[in-house]
Parts: sequence; C-alpha cells; structure tokens
Amino acid sequence: MKKSPNKNIISIAFNLIFFNRFSLILFYSFWFLVGILALRKSQNALSAVQYVKSNRNSVGLNSIESSPEFERLIEVLDEKFPKPPAFFLLNQYALNMTDNFLCNTATLDGVHERFVFVTLDDVARDKIRKRWAQIQIFHWPTPSLFEPFSFAEGAYQTIYLLRSNLALALIKKGKSFWMMQQDTFWRKSIFDLNYEDDMSFDAIFDQLGDGDNSLRKEWVNGANWFIRANNETQFFFERLSDKLSYWYTPDVGVMIHQCNTWDKPKCAYIPYNVTYSWEWMFSDQKNPPYLLQLDCETNGGTKLMQLGRYGFHFVNSDGSCNNEKISSAKSRMENGSVEVQMTKTLPSWGRLQFKLYWYITEYLLSIPVLGEYLRPYLALAGFILMITI
Ligand SMILES: *[C@@H]1O[C@H](CO)[C@@H](O)[C@H](O)[C@H]1NC(C)=O
Ligand SMILES: *[C@@H]1O[C@H](CO)[C@@H](O)[C@H](O)[C@H]1NC(C)=O
Ligand SMILES: *[C@@H]1O[C@H](CO)[C@@H](O)[C@H](O)[C@H]1NC(C)=O
Ligand SMILES: *[C@@H]1O[C@H](CO)[C@@H](O)[C@H](O)[C@H]1NC(C)=O
Repeated sequence: MKKSPNKNIISIAFNLIFFNRFSLILFYSFWFLVGILALRKSQNALSAVQYVKSNRNSVGLNSIESSPEFERLIEVLDEKFPKPPAFFLLNQYALNMTDNFLCNTATLDGVHERFVFVTLDDVARDKIRKRWAQIQIFHWPTPSLFEPFSFAEGAYQTIYLLRSNLALALIKKGKSFWMMQQDTFWRKSIFDLNYEDDMSFDAIFDQLGDGDNSLRKEWVNGANWFIRANNETQFFFERLSDKLSYWYTPDVGVMIHQCNTWDKPKCAYIPYNVTYSWEWMFSDQKNPPYLLQLDCETNGGTKLMQLGRYGFHFVNSDGSCNNEKISSAKSRMENGSVEVQMTKTLPSWGRLQFKLYWYITEYLLSIPVLGEYLRPYLALAGFILMITI
C-alpha cells in the first residue's frame, strides 16, 4: 500500500527532473551555439579591424594626395571632364562583371566619357586599357586588395577606406564626383537627370528598401552616390575615414548615421524610379528604374551566373557585346516581365541571409518609439549583428 504513492512520487520526480534536464540541455545548447557564433564573430571582427590597421597606409589620404598618379588624375579631370566624373573600383576578379557592365553602358550616349576606373592590380589595368581604351584609369595597386574578397571581411573594409579617402582627396581638390558600382544594370543614363545641378542638397544617395512605404527608405544603399565638394562633405568623409579605420562597421552604416543625425551636409535620396536594388525584380515590376542594382549575391563568381539566369549577362563567349540581349533586357524591364522564378536553384545561402537580416531589421524598426530611436544606429552595428556571415 505504501509503495505505490511512493512510486508515483518517484516517477513524477523523475519526469520533472528529466524534463528539466532536457530543457536545461536545450537551453544551454542554444546559448552555447550563440556563444560560439558570437566568438567567431568577434574573431572575424578583430581580424578585419587588424587587417585594416595593417594596410591603412597603402590606402591612406596622404599616400593618395602625394602621389603623381593622383596629380595626373586631377589634370585629366580638369582637361577632359566638364561634368563630374563617376568612379568605379575593381581588381582582376571583378573583370568579367566589369566587362558586362561596360557592354551595357556602351549603348548609352556619353556615359563612358564620364567614367574613371580605379584599378587595384596590374591585370585589371591592362585588361581594361586593352579592351576599353577610351576609359580613364586611376591605377592604385593595393596588395591588400589583390585577392577576391567577400562581404564583412578585412579587405572589404579596406576597399571602403580607400573609397572614402579617395573621396576626401577629390573633395579637397574641389572635385564633385559620383561613386558607383559595376553590379548595376543601366536602362537609361542617370547622368541625363542632372543631379549635379540641383543645389538643394550636398550629397545624394541611392536608398535601400522596397518603395516609399519601406521602413528602410532613406537608408543609404551605397552603390551609387553623388557628392558635391564643399566643407561640409569634406568633414563628412573625414569622420567616415576615421571611423572606418578603427571600427568594424559597414561604410553605409556610418553614412546612414551621419546623414540621420547631422544637420550638414544636406543628404538627399535618389527616388526609386531612378535607382532601385534587386528587390525591384521581386516587386510588381512597375516604374522601371534607370539603374537596377543587381547585388543579389555576395559572391562575385556566382553573381554573374545569377545575372545570366535573369537575362542580364551580355558578353558573348568570344568576348564581344551582345547588344540584342541588352535591348531585350531594357524592354523586359519596361514591360515588367523580368523572369525571376527560381527554377531548379534555390535562392543562395547569401541571399537567404540578407533576406533574414532585412526581415529582422524591418521588425526592429517597426517597434513603436524604439524603432525610431534605433533608426540611425542599427546599420552601424550591421556587421556585428550579422552573426552568420
Ligand atoms: C571570366 O570569364 C572567362 C571567360 O568566360 C572565364 O574563363 C574566367 O574564368 C572568368 N573569370 C572569373 C574570375 O570569373
Ligand atoms: C571652408 O574651409 C576653408 C578652410 O578651412 C575656409 O577658408 C573657407 O572659408 C570655408 N568655406 C566656407 C564656405 O565655409
Ligand atoms: C519619379 O517619380 C517622381 C514622383 O512621382 C516624379 O516626379 C519624377 O519625375 C520621376 N522621375 C523619373 C525619372 O521618372
Ligand atoms: C516584353 O518584352 C519582351 C522582350 O522584348 C517580349 O518578348 C515580350 O513579349 C514583352 N511582353 C509584353 C507583355 O509586352
């Protein structure tokens, strides 16, 4: 008689302990995993910052300003560029993407004349010079940027520091300029819109998000932007360079923060019917933008294959430009029929991660009061929060 309640108690106790154990194990495993990811993240952050630190001088403002190459660049800009130039950076691993882009933009009048390519290694310089002789080159061989690099790594940080210091050097010479990326399809020329003559702002940036209702609206995307040289923009880039040299943060994070919290310079944003990220393809494809940024992949190699799938790869196997494909891509954008089904291939890991992070970002931004408060700061912590990358 006495035994059974005892047994019951024992079994209840056992169950309790067991379930407790089980949930404890789950609990600890979860935090263990988060801990490992966070450690790995810290490790990456430290090594990226270290990488930038040890390569800072090769992309430093002083090195640029005191180089004969920069002096020559300013002369060329004075002589041959009645309108502000547009700068693009590349090393040899971006050559295929760049070729594709130059084929695309060769179909638009007066566009190549505005370009200056910053080549980071000799292969890139020689190839561009050979194939696209009319394009101006600013050669800035940088050993720390010789390898292919991917998002959130030290080399990525270093190239942003170079970009910021080059911007600073140009501003100090009184040169307004565009900074652009080759992973963009040009349906029409953005230069036709004469943003350079609109004096209501000091800087204009493309924006993230998917339309005017997006919470990420007026967040700098950072692929295409115009800077007017003046004291305010000089200070803007001095602070950006400082921050990039010591912090593990995306350059756009700093730009978003500074534009959102400073009175000057006056930042403006290019509307979605002029520049749009790849998210346009996944929208209802109305109001085709002039420039469609195709940064749906983090990896340069697979990126071009991905573009091929969407019909944005225009280089024939013999290296010549396929102008028919280019005009077809333009009309498919105009009639809203860009194919994006993911037949056979799932969205890549890179894209899934970005989608996840945008989802989390929008969620945080949508929290009343807190979201508004977080707005300028969230992007600063971008690299740190992306614990899987
Ligand atoms: C660029 O394209 C050429 C020809 O299609 C190919 O052989 C080469 O491997 C590509 N290079 C890179 C870095 O993807
Ligand atoms: C810009 O800065 C320079 C040097 O600091 C100064 O001489 C000049 O007056 C400033 N210009 C304006 C418009 O504030
Ligand atoms: C973009 O949309 C705005 C507002 O609807 C309009 O004023 C502007 O003309 C459009 N720009 C282009 C280039 O279509
Ligand atoms: C859109 O453009 C493509 C390429 O020119 C064409 O094949 C297709 O028929 C067009 N669709 C519509 C609905 O006009």
